Amino acid sequence: MYDLIQNWDGENVIVRYDRLTGAWIFIAVHSTILGPATGGTRMKPYPNQDEALLDALRLSRGMTYKFAVPGISRGGGKAVVSIPEDMKAVARAALLKRFGGLVQQLGGLFYTGPDVGTSAEDMDIISESGAPYVFCRTKEAGGGGSPGPYTALGVFTAIQVACEHYFGDASLNNRRILVQGVGSVGGNLIKHLLSAGAEIYFNDVDEERIHYYREDLGLKYVPGDMLYSTDCDVYAPCALGGVLSEQTIPQLNCSIVAGGANNQFALPEDAESLSERGILYAPDYVVNVGGAMALPGIEAEGWTPQQAQENVIKSVRYALGRIFTMAREIGITTDEAALRIAKEHLRRDS
Ligand code: PHE
Repeated sequence: MYDLIQNWDGENVIVRYDRLTGAWIFIAVHSTILGPATGGTRMKPYPNQDEALLDALRLSRGMTYKFAVPGISRGGGKAVVSIPEDMKAVARAALLKRFGGLVQQLGGLFYTGPDVGTSAEDMDIISESGAPYVFCRTKEAGGGGSPGPYTALGVFTAIQVACEHYFGDASLNNRRILVQGVGSVGGNLIKHLLSAGAEIYFNDVDEERIHYYREDLGLKYVPGDMLYSTDCDVYAPCALGGVLSEQTIPQLNCSIVAGGANNQFALPEDAESLSERGILYAPDYVVNVGGAMALPGIEAEGWTPQQAQENVIKSVRYALGRIFTMAREIGITTDEAALRIAKEHLRRDS
């Protein structure tokens, strides 16, 4: 655990052990150069606490870059609540309240919102003790609601921009698109893809969701063991990270990777292998900025939902266009191009 923190380039890690549930809470504040650290709260069981901490450290760095690329005045942070497998709803709600108390104690060092395993309803609970540092409460509670639809809109835009760059045609009519994970982001992405006339393949691990998308919507389900080798135009990872690795990259049968998941590469050098295979990669934190841009915009800057949507589309389009051009012109990976832009913005404001 000490090594993980020592080898990380961020500012602070706040650690709490929650005795009543046996949960561990890690809040990683990667950078406050551009503003207060902001990032979602990920709540799920982990195989061990090193994995949980590592997830917080890496995800918070992603948040720094996510805000830096479009020049939003926020820093990068992330909370990971590593919970026991069989936690009951009552214990979970009480834990969320204690977590809100911790966010409150930090006094604005860290602002949060939903992430994998938490919802707008959970933000209502967290904000009982954590206000005003909690984004994305439900609309009934006076918040802007779930970030998923805005993130999905950004992913949809990114897929169009990538297709335009790769195929010379932004239209998604009859494009074969594989969506991995049909939760809050992937599910909303599918709505856009359906209206754009795409041919959709999907994968998920949740039986109920699989049933809905396969039986009710009639989409093609791809089982986990056939996922990476599926022949398609665009692979859109919208579940957990680490999906682009030494094992999966050689199997890929797509032209473009553009999806909403955070931290898609298992290791930094995987970006190079993906590019060597001739696959166009739209950097994750550029593609999935939608929720993190829209909700603070709506709740803290007074944007209307309509303005938030326009801003998400505009900034994803602009940033990706710049990244694809820069990568091609100087012969670097798109991942490296995104990083250069982020770092340039972080330097300029420091
Ligand atoms: N957790 C999401 C992300 O990684 C969205 C989010 C972050 C929403 C911060 C609001 C605030 O981008």
